[in-house]
Amino acid sequence: MANTTLITGGSGYIGSLLARELNEAGRDVRVLDSLLHGQEDIAAEQEQAGIEVIRADIRDSEARRRALAGAEAVVHLAAIVGDPACARDPQASDEVNVQATRELVADAGEAGVERLVFASTCSNYGRMTDPTVPITEEGELSPVSLYAEQKVGMEKLILGAGGNGVQPTCLRFATVYGVGRRMRFDLTVNEFTRELWADRELEVFGEQFWRPYIHVRDAGRAVRTVLETPAEKVTGRVFNAGRSGENYRKLDLVEEIRKQTDRGNVSYVHRDEDPRDYKVSFDRIRSELGFETLMTVPDGIAEIISALEEERFGDPFDGRYRNVP
Ligand SMILES: NC(=O)c1ccc[n+]([C@@H]2O[C@H](COP(=O)([O-])OP(=O)(O)OC[C@H]3O[C@@H](n4cnc5c(N)ncnc54)[C@H](O)[C@@H]3O)[C@@H](O)[C@H]2O)c1
Repeated sequence: MANTTLITGGSGYIGSLLARELNEAGRDVRVLDSLLHGQEDIAAEQEQAGIEVIRADIRDSEARRRALAGAEAVVHLAAIVGDPACARDPQASDEVNVQATRELVADAGEAGVERLVFASTCSNYGRMTDPTVPITEEGELSPVSLYAEQKVGMEKLILGAGGNGVQPTCLRFATVYGVGRRMRFDLTVNEFTRELWADRELEVFGEQFWRPYIHVRDAGRAVRTVLETPAEKVTGRVFNAGRSGENYRKLDLVEEIRKQTDRGNVSYVHRDEDPRDYKVSFDRIRSELGFETLMTVPDGIAEIISALEEERFGDPFDGRYRNVP
């Protein structure tokens, strides 16, 4: 299929909704995913919907070659995702997030792929000296984890890959929230909401730390926006993906959840881990690409609570909803 869009990690949290969105928009979608979190049900559903699923590891060169054949665009999401998962297995994260990404970019050039969208992260901003002033794409990157260091390195590699014919764009996603087809409860908004809804004791550290958030469907829409924008406007560019009004401190998140459920208890504790503290500007993606998010954190909290009420996740504490067991 000549106009195929390949999504690596296309059966994951962002990927499964993105695959559906692009498929419904009339693209031929192919997914390459090792189903690391046991998403066989999602893969089967995707095939039912006419999405081609290659169940394979991105480290496998033969699988990459098959996945790239005839692809005009690649959205690269497959990764060992998050600080804890990378810290737990640095070797796998180096193999997948660094080496396989490098190889995918080289193979994409050889396969004649035109466009590449790389899923990067606002975690690249790390700990800002003045987190109250929103940082733009030109701001200094100070990653504070292996995960973010690898993303920073791969952005450089990918943006420098123009020479091999591929036109690359990096999207630095805000922290994602909301109900996905592959649900993740190891992300701040989702986890906090679940804990309080379940009437548990929620320990919050770094409650004053700022971070931006984006709904999982909006994350997919941001990718679609890049793919539908003429290449000359996005090639070699970085865009923060989110909304300027959606930066919150953890304590604000608790307050928002509190407006929607009075269950559970919160205690604020001191811990030295995860010092990420950044407030981000999303003006570029809005002014240059016309991208506006549709959802807000309070909308997402409401959506998660009603999905929990409807028991849509079975046991929401099941390990498959986390990227580290
Ligand atoms: N969720 C967030 O808050 C967030 C924020 C910024 C950036 N991102 C980035 O977006 C992308 C998608 O994240 P997500 O939240 O959907 O996480 P996810 O873990 O649900 O998705 C990752 C997908 O990659 C697949 N995968 C992992 N290792 C693989 C391998 N070796 N070969 C093939 N497939 C493999 C997994 O099975 C999974 O489907 C990642 O690159 C992540 O770094 C996510």
